[in-house]
Amino acid sequence: MNICRTKQQLKLAVREAKKQQQSIGFVPTMGFLHEGHASLLREAKADNDVVVLSIFVNPMQFGPNEDLDRYPRDEERDIALAASCGVDIVFLPTTEEMYKRKPLTTIKVEEVTNRLCGASRPGHFDGVGLVVNKLFNIVLPDRAYFGMKDAQQVAVIEQMVQDLDINVEIVPCPIIREPDGLALSSRNVYLSAKHRAEAATLSQSLNKLHHKLSADGNMSADECITFIKDEILTNTTGEIDYVELLQYPSLTVINGQASLSKSVENQRFIVAVAVKFGTTRLIDNALFQVSEVIERV
Ligand code: PAF
Repeated sequence: MNICRTKQQLKLAVREAKKQQQSIGFVPTMGFLHEGHASLLREAKADNDVVVLSIFVNPMQFGPNEDLDRYPRDEERDIALAASCGVDIVFLPTTEEMYKRKPLTTIKVEEVTNRLCGASRPGHFDGVGLVVNKLFNIVLPDRAYFGMKDAQQVAVIEQMVQDLDINVEIVPCPIIREPDGLALSSRNVYLSAKHRAEAATLSQSLNKLHHKLSADGNMSADECITFIKDEILTNTTGEIDYVELLQYPSLTVINGQASLSKSVENQRFIVAVAVKFGTTRLIDNALFQVSEVIERV
């Protein structure tokens, strides 16, 4: 496995792969890898000749009071996991290497960033857009793999790639979960035992909603939101940041009172939640397709 710490080293490795007409699959991460990342790497390995993994905790996507300084890191373990997934190239730049000078260019994807994490974390997606653009320009991947736990991030990146004609296929990959349903996240390590047990409520409430929607496609968006909020408030001590039901991937608002099978006919909607357990903010979501019935996708 080739470990590149500078852009120059990585560009040389990419040039070599391109010279041999090898396809490049790219998995951008902030490290502290878990099974969710491993599933992206395996999918990239199955689809491409060469897999590039980047590990970079991007300061530009953290707000002033967020967890940049305590974001978990374990380079040695990450490198071992990458090797076990068949990664060919790991890109591990420092902040100084990544941002040689203060960037004066902004990537601002409008509308899709107005709600959910875009509203709760102002500037977050500008930072994501900037670093993902830079990484795409350095890695020149044929395909890039992103987990659907960050469904809004996927929508933002797909929009950006389309708007800027970036020559890469975005491959959204399913959320990987613990046996009790908790979505895997590097931030789960922060949770106390009590909060860890409660955190499973997020996915469990989405599952219960799925069952209710399968039985009653006439539920409205407001009824769904109330149901999820009640579940979280009854079963956890967490503080709700948001529970929203929006069209996906446009992330536009749906008429709150109308029956979902009418208001979202033949389209997809997302139920997205963000809840703070102590100082740890977790997100989760479920995506649904409205056709004859409402199905989870
Ligand atoms: O999803 C993440 O881990 C980050 O937002 C990403 C895409 C690696 C950009 O820093």
